[in-house]
Amino acid sequence: MLSTLRGSAVRAAAKQSSAGPVTLIARASTFANVKEGPPDAILGITEAFKKDSFSEKINLGVGAYRDDQGKPYVLPSVREAEQKVVGKALDKEYAGITGVPSFTKAAALLAYGPDSAAIKEDRIAITQSISGTGALRIGGAFLERFYPHGKAIYIPTPSWANHKAVFTDSGLDVKQYKYYNKDTIGLDFDGMVADLKAAPENSIVLLHACAHNPTGIDPTPEQWKQISQVVKEKGHFPFFDMAYQGFASGDTDKDAYPIRLFIEEGHQMVLAQSFAKNMGLYGERVGAFSVVCESAEEKKRLDSQIKILVRPLYSNPPVHGARIASEILNDPSLNKQWLGEVKGMADRIIKMRALLKENLQKLGSKQNWDHITNQIGMFAYTGLKPEQMEVLAKEHSVYATKDGRISVAGITSANVKRLAESIYKTTG
Ligand code: LMR
Repeated sequence: MLSTLRGSAVRAAAKQSSAGPVTLIARASTFANVKEGPPDAILGITEAFKKDSFSEKINLGVGAYRDDQGKPYVLPSVREAEQKVVGKALDKEYAGITGVPSFTKAAALLAYGPDSAAIKEDRIAITQSISGTGALRIGGAFLERFYPHGKAIYIPTPSWANHKAVFTDSGLDVKQYKYYNKDTIGLDFDGMVADLKAAPENSIVLLHACAHNPTGIDPTPEQWKQISQVVKEKGHFPFFDMAYQGFASGDTDKDAYPIRLFIEEGHQMVLAQSFAKNMGLYGERVGAFSVVCESAEEKKRLDSQIKILVRPLYSNPPVHGARIASEILNDPSLNKQWLGEVKGMADRIIKMRALLKENLQKLGSKQNWDHITNQIGMFAYTGLKPEQMEVLAKEHSVYATKDGRISVAGITSANVKRLAESIYKTTG
């Protein structure tokens, strides 16, 4: 019994015992009933990878860009922008609750485009966020508090592994719509449209703007028009998640197509942006959450409410990464350089897709691997089953998420052959 008492309780008991009889009460820890949870579906892969001592191990888990040497890549434009920021010897005072204004203004411009009516009419309420995840979380909290038509949010099946947790923790009721057809390893467009039509009117619908995570399958421009139509007919409210602007096609304007289309078509919407991938600012946590308002007057009201939401969450965001992003977005020559570097990253990924497919074919794989090159963005959704992913990890030291997603950014000219052999041996 005594051994289950913690230090101070034991000392108190000993003290009392010299004064008279004492009853020892066993006290379990306050948290004795807390169970160990599972590792994170994505970030847990990195932990498993680190534990593997094999020198040729391959990490295709987390979506973080690597150069052709398999090394993290700091964009030269980011290095230069950072030097500029440091050179300005700015103070380290708190930012305002909604962050660095020169950054948020430029972030909105990047997403919505200079020709957007919402930009011209100054009716976008925007706040800096702790990268894309933070933007989604503020968005979830904002809609939970202010969306007048219920708490249901529809996310695609499958979606980014963290979406469900983010929105559930925000107090929304997460539902799903069809997105992926496992037989074609492509978009289940009919299923998607049917589900959006079947959802109760005025539901919130989460849409990946580009480079759908995890499938790498995006609707075509024509399909986006039809999606916009259904969303409008049903009075649904679009919540765009744009974590990969520029990363899909290599062109930031092209990747923002659905956002701009929806604005043109008169939708109100909210948007989560991330600068983790397109600027490689992963650990700096730079993002933005915005609401397209009906008028400048409405923007003023919503701005005030966003501040009231953010203040108790984390008070105000960190400044350093946002200052770097601001330099890149606002300095014309740095901006041009950056756009070239984004294209360079997208092109390397496209090249690795082709190489992987080519190597699988050379090995004599009977399977059709066209989806690897048809898909777009950071990820390939291989169609491999969880058991096969387990074999890849256990027998070949190739690590990726159980759903068959591989981060193409982790493939290099040096490891692609071994990767193809591992996949071939696992799938035949
Ligand atoms: C991913 O999907 O791998 C990335 O978005 C990183 C993350 O936070 O999950």
